[in-house]
Amino acid sequence: MNVAEAKSRIEQLTNEINRHNHLYYVLAEPAISDYQFDKLLEELIQLEKQYPELQKADSPSQRVGGMVTKEFETVPHRYPMLSLSNSYSEQEIVDFDKRVRKIIGDEVTYVCELKYDGVAISLLYEKGFLSRAVTRGDGSKGDDVTANVKTIRSIPLRLKGNYPESFEIRGEIFYPNESFRQLNASREADGLNLFANPRNAAAGTLKLQNSAQVARRKLDCWLYYMMGENLTFQTHYESLQQAREWGFKVSPNMAICANIHEIFEFIHDWDTARSQLPYDIDGIVIKVNSFHLQQELGFTAKSPRWAIAYKYKAEEANTRLLSVDFQVGRTGAVTPVANLEPVLLAGTTVKRATLHNADIIAQLDLHEKDTVVIEKGGEIIPKITSVLTELRLPSSKKVRFVENCPECRTPLERNEGEAAWYCPNQQACPPQIKGRIEHFISRKAMDIDSLGEGKIELLFDNHLIKNPADLYDLRYEDLFGLEKIIKATDGGNDRKVSFREKTSQNILKSLELSKEIPYERVLFALGIRFVGETVAKRLTEAFPSIDQLMQADHNALIGVNEIGERIADSVITFFQHPDNQLIISRLKAHGLQFEAKNTSTRISNSLEGKNIVVSGIFKKFSRDAAKEMIEQHGGKNTSSISAKTDYVLAGDQMGPAKREKAEKLGIPIIDEDAFLALIGG
Ligand code: IVH
Repeated sequence: MNVAEAKSRIEQLTNEINRHNHLYYVLAEPAISDYQFDKLLEELIQLEKQYPELQKADSPSQRVGGMVTKEFETVPHRYPMLSLSNSYSEQEIVDFDKRVRKIIGDEVTYVCELKYDGVAISLLYEKGFLSRAVTRGDGSKGDDVTANVKTIRSIPLRLKGNYPESFEIRGEIFYPNESFRQLNASREADGLNLFANPRNAAAGTLKLQNSAQVARRKLDCWLYYMMGENLTFQTHYESLQQAREWGFKVSPNMAICANIHEIFEFIHDWDTARSQLPYDIDGIVIKVNSFHLQQELGFTAKSPRWAIAYKYKAEEANTRLLSVDFQVGRTGAVTPVANLEPVLLAGTTVKRATLHNADIIAQLDLHEKDTVVIEKGGEIIPKITSVLTELRLPSSKKVRFVENCPECRTPLERNEGEAAWYCPNQQACPPQIKGRIEHFISRKAMDIDSLGEGKIELLFDNHLIKNPADLYDLRYEDLFGLEKIIKATDGGNDRKVSFREKTSQNILKSLELSKEIPYERVLFALGIRFVGETVAKRLTEAFPSIDQLMQADHNALIGVNEIGERIADSVITFFQHPDNQLIISRLKAHGLQFEAKNTSTRISNSLEGKNIVVSGIFKKFSRDAAKEMIEQHGGKNTSSISAKTDYVLAGDQMGPAKREKAEKLGIPIIDEDAFLALIGG
């Protein structure tokens, strides 16, 4: 392929990918499979790598991120980003309508919209391209988060049709409830702090420094307000319908309302229906439809006079605390869960609420049999927000956090600065053992689904397994004939299920197949605390074999992108344990992958045999891209500086200790331009 051919193929792929992005993320009408989509994107990324000069700023390859922003630049808003005045009573809406009619007369019509509970964003489009994305900030200036916003698939990077030359469109970035639940579940499994609700998760994600990390989170965005100098629309409603045509995600859930009755109908309908939405809303926004009348009404210092927000009351209910269970997870963390008198909340019957940790119980001052207020946010399991102390029985005692593990009776421990209590009996506490093996076989780890649905429990109860390595010693005769009782949930008889020929063979077959699972997933599967999928990937990139990783000291580990003190300590502790060393050597003997397969394609030999340490943050490329380029040109990435190091590729914020060491050893420190020159531009 020559340059001209590459250029036209890139253009073709760009259009095709943009079209499918829009079909999938905006219209929710996918036309091709995820696999086919990934293939198109992969082809584009490869071509752009080969011909970097052909990569455009609006290329859909930008969606995967890679830019690292140290500090977000504060930029002024073209038009101030005001908020809306909030009302909690219907009377205030009646008053608003009266005020409006008094000023502009009875010809007014309104648009009612959902009030999305996320993070406000202002997007600037110039000549059809997304040129800047800014958070609200203090209303007059906000943070430039363009690189992160470009990863949100439902936000068009390039518009279609007949759009104005330059305009700003505002909307709300949000975290869909199901993705939020998955995010927190995976953070919990990795021992990370949980986000309190989808809004916090959206805000936290938008401020991540590495846009590649943002791209992996599933943010979404509704657009609801357009502004610009030479817009030709007469009404707000019309402007949004047009914006939809250009490719924006504009909600279909809006209505033109001619009077206060229609407004209340919209408010009431959505108060019931909102629990079915896949994202959170916290109210309804009512806007005067005509732009001309909006202008006539104008603004107060804080908000427009032509719009108002009606806020729903939080979906909450009162119920009684029956008891508190303490559950032990695979990391040994003990989570308290409240059993409640069943109560209807937002369309579902609630029987349990999470209490998270001991601090929450103390903050609530929870007593036995208390009457509690529960609230449903984006989470499936609701939480207790307060206790109605005036209804407390004088005799009731404080709920006490258990001091011993509810499963193995070992005294619990708590690390300084952490909220959770842990059972330290990692080697013998049953839910920890089963939890680790269940994590090992889970889909994103070794993906041995024939061992799902309670089979681990059965094997454990029969003393056949107590760690992942035992799985690979299982023989047909161990499995065949094993029986399990399935408890009846409907009051009928329990059922007995036994492993027959097929089940036993399937288990052995999928164990065999799992030996092909790549090193990075095997490392994740080991269940080292704080080593989630991404961290496992970073570690395997920096240490391409488990032997190298096991030998890495604290300094070498924290020298790796995204690896901090806490992860480094956890990795070292894990590998120091003789039981873990034995498990790894047995897994190795069974043939699991403990080395990275080199997948990057060679472009030149200009760095042949050179050991290079990458450190700091770069302006022209991400740290991962630098490492990839090193390999593509025959070099080797090493994590710590030694006499064998040939170059240190240094960006901003390179640690002073590293610089000193390199200088002491006389190793050349090169910046990004010198590096690019080395590999031929
Ligand atoms: S219109 C000048 N429409 O609520 C007013 N805002 O307190 C522009 N919000 O800052 C805002 N859904 O973050 C508008 N359909 C919607 C909205 C909405 C959510 C947020 C937005 C705004 C805040 C007002």
